[in-house]
Amino acid sequence: MEKALAYALEKRERFLADLIELLKIQSVSADPQRDAEVRRSAQWTADFLAKIGMDNAAVLETGGHPAVYADWLHAPGKPTILIYGHHDVQPEDPIDKWTTPPFDPVISDGYIRGRGTSDDKAQYMTHLFALEALLKTNGTLPCNIKVFIEGEEEGGKGMTHDFVRDNAKMLACDAVAISDTSWMSPTRPSIVYALRGIAYFEINVQGPDRDLHSGVYGGMVQNPLNAVGKLIASFQDADGNILVEGLYDDVVKLTAEERAEFASVQEPEDEIAADLKVPQLWGEAGYTAVERNWGRPSFDVHGIWGGFTGEGSKTVIAAEGGFKISFRLVANQEPEKIAKLVAAHVEKHCPPGVTATTTYLHGGTPVMVPADSAFIQAAADAFEQTFGKRPALVREGASIPITAVFQEALHAPAILVGYGLNEDNIHSPDEKFKVDHFYGGIDCNLRLYEAFAKVKV
Ligand code: BES
Ligand code: MN
Ligand code: MN
Repeated sequence: MEKALAYALEKRERFLADLIELLKIQSVSADPQRDAEVRRSAQWTADFLAKIGMDNAAVLETGGHPAVYADWLHAPGKPTILIYGHHDVQPEDPIDKWTTPPFDPVISDGYIRGRGTSDDKAQYMTHLFALEALLKTNGTLPCNIKVFIEGEEEGGKGMTHDFVRDNAKMLACDAVAISDTSWMSPTRPSIVYALRGIAYFEINVQGPDRDLHSGVYGGMVQNPLNAVGKLIASFQDADGNILVEGLYDDVVKLTAEERAEFASVQEPEDEIAADLKVPQLWGEAGYTAVERNWGRPSFDVHGIWGGFTGEGSKTVIAAEGGFKISFRLVANQEPEKIAKLVAAHVEKHCPPGVTATTTYLHGGTPVMVPADSAFIQAAADAFEQTFGKRPALVREGASIPITAVFQEALHAPAILVGYGLNEDNIHSPDEKFKVDHFYGGIDCNLRLYEAFAKVKV
């Protein structure tokens, strides 16, 4: 352990240089033009795992973007930990909002800056460098380790979920360690025990078979873009309640204990509002911001298109328009069931004179990890030793869809030991990751594996 920590300290510059190499690969899974780049980041990761002495390092074909696997299983009687991360990244647009180039990483003011730093390349690499430090100094690991790094968490065809179900034996483990989440704040290290799920849709509205003059035809037809507005408005009332019939049916109500616990860890609402430069926070009436974010479903419009958006004015009735929406889900909502309810809602609320089609794009089931899992307590010990503070046990409003698949197919708890911060700008221009969290993450992982090794399985 001491030797591995010393090794990690000595190799800091080289670790950073390796990471920068990986960050330069434009592994944008949502962009078919860059499929080869996603494959290149998989290959880079597999090569790295082979180089540090992991066994069976390989790029795996999933039918979608490739994943990476490696293992080291020479600790009989000890737990087996599956380390998960994703080597794909979000698109970089809008490119002109970046201060430094997204795929030419820069180190400045204590941050590594570039697309995929916090989400998730620097985060999963904290594990791979920790494994290197152990293998190069001790030649062994304290517990059995499998590494599984997927290539389509952020987009693509989403075939990796089926791959996990089909290869449950290869991935069998006692716990899954995931570094792909954030802390409550820079001074509040956090371990996440619940993630929300998601159901994502595209809705297309079709009117007349051609664009029309809005004077010649205005008042005679349903304008598809007016219909888009009416449809969007039909999803939520002024108090923030979602109006899709049956959507709340499976929602597990927050208990008084949970609400008290959330209140004890949340950031003050006026501080969040001030940070976001909004006049006030908003959401479902009767719940605090943190309750809404962690324990209630939410509805968001992601994009609206159609008609004339150029300079000046054009009196047109566009033939068609559309929008993208998603619902964040909580236990025990199921995305497939929500998909049926949403399709029925659109059918019922589509204004007369146009047709609307609903496409369910993808979904993820919400995740809840038993907070008393021995692996969570072990992880909390490693965090405390590394960062000097007992971590807060928190929930997360965002989603990592494969986590529910792991829990279901592998029957293993997901331990969400992330090192990101809300200020990291993930999915946005100027994504970054604290250099201190990169090094701290490596040290913490060394302690994490040792703490996991002590868990009786
Ligand atoms: N790593 C994020 C999820 C996340 C973000 C967890 C911040 C904790 C804090 C993950 O890569 C992500 O972006 N998930 C998507 C899933 C979606 C594409 C299905 C999300 O939550 O929008
Ligand atoms: Mn991620
Ligand atoms: Mn992401």
